[in-house]
Parts: sequence; structure tokens; C-alpha cells
Amino acid sequence: MIRLDVDFVRKQFPSFQFEEVVGNGFFENAGGSFMSKQVIERLTRYHNQRRVQPYWVFNSSKLAGEEMDESRSRMAALLNVSNSSLHFGPSTSQNTYVLANAFKDLQTDRKVIIVTNQDHEANSGVWRRLKNFGYTVKEWKVRKNTGSLVLDDLIKILDKDVCLVTFPHCSNIIGEINPVEKICELSKENGSYTCVDGVSYVPHSFPNIKKIGCDIYMFSTYKTYGPHLGIMYVDENLNRLLPVQGHYFNAKDPTKTLTPAGPDHAQIASVAGIVDYIEEIDRHHFKDNEEIATHLKAERIGKLQREAESEILLPLFNFLKQKKGVKILGNMDLSIDKKVPTISIDIKGDVDGVVQQLNKKGLMAGSGDFYAVRLLESLGIELPAGVLRLSFVHYTKSKEIDSLIEALDQIL
Ligand SMILES: Cc1ncc(COP(=O)(O)O)c(C=O)c1O
Repeated sequence: MIRLDVDFVRKQFPSFQFEEVVGNGFFENAGGSFMSKQVIERLTRYHNQRRVQPYWVFNSSKLAGEEMDESRSRMAALLNVSNSSLHFGPSTSQNTYVLANAFKDLQTDRKVIIVTNQDHEANSGVWRRLKNFGYTVKEWKVRKNTGSLVLDDLIKILDKDVCLVTFPHCSNIIGEINPVEKICELSKENGSYTCVDGVSYVPHSFPNIKKIGCDIYMFSTYKTYGPHLGIMYVDENLNRLLPVQGHYFNAKDPTKTLTPAGPDHAQIASVAGIVDYIEEIDRHHFKDNEEIATHLKAERIGKLQREAESEILLPLFNFLKQKKGVKILGNMDLSIDKKVPTISIDIKGDVDGVVQQLNKKGLMAGSGDFYAVRLLESLGIELPAGVLRLSFVHYTKSKEIDSLIEALDQIL
């Protein structure tokens, strides 16, 4: 059985050379990951050797444009989608803002939008505001004891008036992975579009978007080892129906209709570095790297990532489960298709104080609502104190988990 070589993985991240950056363990990865060296190299090359303005005839500008195009085609191949269905925006919040604006003027008889109260606010508030523009907003509510979204509850509100179903691939608080394919299948059968927030999922495995079958899929590359951008997939047929949000004379270019903010050329050019990173990890673990499609590499590396993460999640979970005064939020199923390593706990006390004490021990984590206020409210969590969130990814080592457990045992 092939296991992820975590030491090799860590060599791809310059941050691990800096003690002050990595400390004894970094557990705020759901907020933002370290950047891989492949991304840093491309970003540096762009700033040193390319023109700010790409696509002119002079060589430095031509190369700049080619690198941006390379990012588009290689990221599209990783996600198994067409080149012109990808959009590079400044962030996921900005992307949903623009999308919701486009839905305001969409010609449709279906005037219901389904939102959840499990989402980060980025995939919630903008859709809820459409109630001022002729839509009725219905909430697919989490179950109060678990924070889970249950399919039966969606089915009860999914009728022929529903235009769009918005939901997270995975919660940024309880780490629960939702059955995206099933939700998209049900919605499609009903004639409704789907908008999936993949921000909390993609750091743990790049998805096969075609297989998911959604109309919109979004994630933020500063959490997937890359630059601070939001990448958005929008089905090309849907894009054709959405009113243009960019300049009118660019209306015929599908890659320019949903990104009114001018593109950050250097950052877009560096996105190919994320694909280089996955390729590098794949080449290290599998001999047939040259022969298989990029999205299949994403799938098998995703599996290695998920297995490595689950293995070290178990001891942390078991420790927290038996610790007095600690309540783990969410479902208790740790299978690799059910939970990513993002654990939030309610300690009903000075949670900020715990964060400070962890920090003194070189262990970095955060507390609060993480912009999932609606979820925390429904789970009865005291705000603004919120929860202690502990999140890691595949580059985390089991010795860092051991240090975290030891520290929490002393502090809590
Ligand atoms: C699940 C989830 N969705 C959306 C966002 C917003 O992403 P961005 O910062 O790119 O706007 C975040 C940010 O933390 C998130 O965790």
C-alpha cells in the first residue's frame, strides 16, 4: 500500500525552514495554508522577468500571457473541466458577490433560492439578499444536535420553483463532507442549478468537478498552497444565460463576463505552481506519472492526502472525546469521505485564553466564529467567544499532533 511521504511533502514548502513560522505545530490551516515552492518560484519569476501587462508582442509580455494561459489550462485539467469554464477572481467572497449580482437579472420563472445555515457567510449572505430582488429565500437548516445537513430536509423544500441550491462541500467548522454528488443529482433532476462552496474541502483533495455535476464550484487558492485568489467554475451554458458583469465589449469572451475586477496577472500565472506541486507529489509516489490524465493524479494524490490526515486525526479526536468539559461539534464519523481534519470544540470558558496559552507553547490555532455565525448560533455556541478550531492538512506530522494533545491536556 502506498502511503504519503510527509517528509517529501514538507520539502516542497519553504516555510518549514523557518522555526518562527511553523513553531511546534500550525493548526489554523482552514484559515490559510503555507505556499508551495512551485508557486513561489512562478510568482517570483513573474515579478522579476515578466511584464505587468501581458499579451503584447514583446517577449516578456508574451511570456506573461502564456503563463497565465498555462495556469488556466492546467488547473482546468486538474479539476476535469473546460478551460473557459474557469474564472479567476480576487477571493471567493468577491466571486459569490458578483455571481449573486448576475442572478438578480437572470430571466427565470423559478424564483426560490435555497441557502443553508452550515455555510461560511461568503456563500450565504449574498444569496439571502436576493430576497430584495424578487426571489424567495428558503433555508436548508442543519440538525441542531449535530450541525449536519440532512438530504431529507432538502427534499422537503426542493420544488419546481427552486432556481438555485447553494451549499458547502464541507463545513469550515465541523469538517463534515456533504454528499455533493447526490445533492447535485437531486437538484438537477428538479431543474435547479447548484452552487457549491468548496473552500474547506479542496485543501484536502482537488475534486473532479465534472463528476460532482454542479453548475458552480468555488475555492480559494490561498488555502490550497497557492496565491490569494478565488477560483470559480461556472458551467458554460449557465454562464451564457447570466447577465454580463464585465465590460459590455468583452461579452463574447466567457472568461471575462464574471470577473469585473481586473485580474491579478502575477498571481494567476502562479496558479500553475499548484498543479506543479500535485504533479511533483504524484511523480514521487507513482511510476506511471507521465501516462495518466491530470485529474486522475489529483484523485489518487487526494486519496493519499485524506488517508494521511485521517490517520493522525484519530488520536486527537479520541483525546478530545474523553476530555472533561470539552464538546466536539459535529458528526463523529471520521471516514475519509465524511470528515476533513477540521475540528471545533466548545469549552464554555475563556477560549481566547486557551489560544494564547497554546501560542506560548508554539502551537498556532484560532478561536471565534470563523464567519460561520449562523451555524454556531444554531448549535447554541456562545458568541463572540465561539469555538476553538484545530485544523490541519496533509503536511502536518503526527509529532505535532502529539504536542497539541499534550498541551491541551495541560491547559484544558
Ligand atoms: C468555507 C469558506 N468559504 C468561503 C470563504 C471565503 O473565502 P475568501 O476569503 O476567498 O473570500 C472561506 C474563508 O475562510 C471559507 O472558509
